[in-house]
Amino acid sequence: MFKTPEIEKRIDELMAKMTLEEKIGQLYQTGLSPVGGFEISVKEAEQMFEAGRIGRKEYEELVTRASADEKENMIREGTVGSYIGIHNPEHANRLQKIAVEESRLGIPLIFGLDVVHGHRTVFPSPLGEACTFDDELFRKSAEVAAREAAEDGVHWTFAPMVDVSRDPRWGRVAEGPGEDTYLASRFAAAKVKGFQGDDISAPDRICACVKHFAAYGACEGGRDYNTVDMSEAKLREVYLPPFAAAVKAGAATLMPAFNDINGTPCTTNKWLLDDYLRGELGFDGFLISDAHGIKECVFHGTAETPADAAEQAIKAGCDMDMGCEFYTDCLPELLKEGRVTMDDIDRAVRNILRIKFAAGLFEHPYAYAPEKSTKLCAEHRALAREIGAKSMVLLKNNGVLPLKENKKVLVVGYFADDGNEMLGMWVISGRAEDAVCLNGALKEAGVSFDYAPCTDNQLTLDREALQKALKETDADTVIALVGEHFRTTGEANSKSYIGLGGDQPEMLRIIKESGKKLVTVLLSGRPLAIPDEVELSNAVVECWQPGVEGGHAMYDVLFGKVNPSGRLSMTFPLNSGSCPIYYNHMNTGRPAADIKWATRYIDIKPVPLFPFGYGLSYTDYEYSNLQIVPDGNKLYVSADITNTGDMAGEETVQVYIHRSKATHTRPVRELKGYTKVYLEPKETKCVTVELSRDQMGYYNNQSEYCTEESRFDIYVAHDSASGLHGEIVF
Ligand code: GLC
Repeated sequence: MFKTPEIEKRIDELMAKMTLEEKIGQLYQTGLSPVGGFEISVKEAEQMFEAGRIGRKEYEELVTRASADEKENMIREGTVGSYIGIHNPEHANRLQKIAVEESRLGIPLIFGLDVVHGHRTVFPSPLGEACTFDDELFRKSAEVAAREAAEDGVHWTFAPMVDVSRDPRWGRVAEGPGEDTYLASRFAAAKVKGFQGDDISAPDRICACVKHFAAYGACEGGRDYNTVDMSEAKLREVYLPPFAAAVKAGAATLMPAFNDINGTPCTTNKWLLDDYLRGELGFDGFLISDAHGIKECVFHGTAETPADAAEQAIKAGCDMDMGCEFYTDCLPELLKEGRVTMDDIDRAVRNILRIKFAAGLFEHPYAYAPEKSTKLCAEHRALAREIGAKSMVLLKNNGVLPLKENKKVLVVGYFADDGNEMLGMWVISGRAEDAVCLNGALKEAGVSFDYAPCTDNQLTLDREALQKALKETDADTVIALVGEHFRTTGEANSKSYIGLGGDQPEMLRIIKESGKKLVTVLLSGRPLAIPDEVELSNAVVECWQPGVEGGHAMYDVLFGKVNPSGRLSMTFPLNSGSCPIYYNHMNTGRPAADIKWATRYIDIKPVPLFPFGYGLSYTDYEYSNLQIVPDGNKLYVSADITNTGDMAGEETVQVYIHRSKATHTRPVRELKGYTKVYLEPKETKCVTVELSRDQMGYYNNQSEYCTEESRFDIYVAHDSASGLHGEIVF
């Protein structure tokens, strides 16, 4: 992918001049760290805090008063290769100037930042964006993010996150494309293309860093950072394909995950990082550990000392150390002791320099400076608004939606006016004041509404305020915005209970008892187990964390300016106890059914609240005339889709298979294709999806990929629980 004779020659020439310190410097990513509390160093403050000599408050006061250590001397000495967390062009350029003009060899720094779902133009959370099932939108939002981030001196984003996850208790489901491997794979490829473009050296493109490699989403119990244990067949079939798709799309870098797989931490897993990634997939970029990931191998218990961890990680193929300085501190001694060879170090340095050359950093090391800034420009906002609306999923509607603009509504719930809740959990450069909330959108549209927050970000309810609002308003419809406070979603935010939090269920009950119509609008990072709340509501719309244009997007959907087309990227469970839950489960010997001797829980129905792929719209679509036509190793599956309603809309046609013959258990359904079709009212279009034999196979327990002939059930469907059914031997 990046190896060319010209680049390899430039690497050879540069490395021939590099000292050991300069080589190890390339393997070190640093960030601004506080130093110098008022009289004592931060290190001493940390020791005093850990020893209990000062409390948290005093410690935090000390550290926040500290100045930032920019490690300028390390840059000057050529012993820093990368920076994390700088997203200001002047700041980046100042540090870069030291590296390029004052260090001995002038090797540019590569500046990395988490630009996960937008930079200043913040897009919907990835779990929400995945509900668009629109690869072009996946790519476009990444392209905009890259252009804006490059203006702020960013060369490299720690995204896309492509961890398949089947357990909504895991907070980081918000950050990824959901439960399905096929959707995640198309998402991954589109994101890499968006960030990197066709020419990764273009000044307004940035390097992707596909994470977290691998199977982080399978953390036991949905508990973040927890252990992962599974067969290689399952790893290859469910969790690795999105990374393979990203590498095929040209990903420049990857990030090993915090977790172990079957007892070996990803950070030091040579089979994963070298044999599979480089040997099987031909990856030739570089790998950066996750934050302190190398250090965490000591906690995992597979490394006794920092030196052990550094030795294992560099030998496994983890090229760069994000922030724990184990390479800087330990590699020189490990080399002297012969535990690490110069080849081990050179290999990592080459991989990093290869990307620095390929990304054009030697030619244009400074921030991208267009004539006119593109940050939050009208075109970018328009895209955020479009994706915001298309990511929203209409879960229930008994006819109350779309609302009429000339009819007053009552809006309740603090989410209606909180910009941070629009932006969501993984935002560094986004600003709450840039966000459009629902109230702002309603005002702009001239919709008459009363507003009473009644809740706060602790999800407590002001009962009096709610009763007063219900009593005083002359609106007969209430839009209630409920969900998860964004700070309780994302990393380190796994939850054992994923029902609606706090007093919010009571709020909805009080509204229902008032006799007014209830439109429940969900703002959440994950699927929530809300059967009772759905029952209470006349309509339910899942809006996820909708981004900087979230208010406009909610207005567009609620008032019918946009016909909702989102389809769930993740299953909604009936309760927390039924997690993990996903559509492509195995049939088992006692298939799930509402009978005694079946795989089920006796206290709930053996079905999800809403299945993967589900979503309503303001019109209806009819599927007919299923055709399955084999042609060599291809299978052409088509059907007629009719818009039977009075509103134009966009349908996501999904194609699932079930393989009946295999030496390994098979999922009851597997998504193997999707396409979108726009239909005017009463219009019919024939939609065809192409499948290939090599995507219809499976891994056996010897990790062999098998594609033998089988009878297949084929579904052309609106979601994973419905559709036209046909069979074929193929
Ligand atoms: C975090 C995350 C990773 C992120 C990195 C740098 O702990 O696991 O996704 O890219 O640190 O912020």
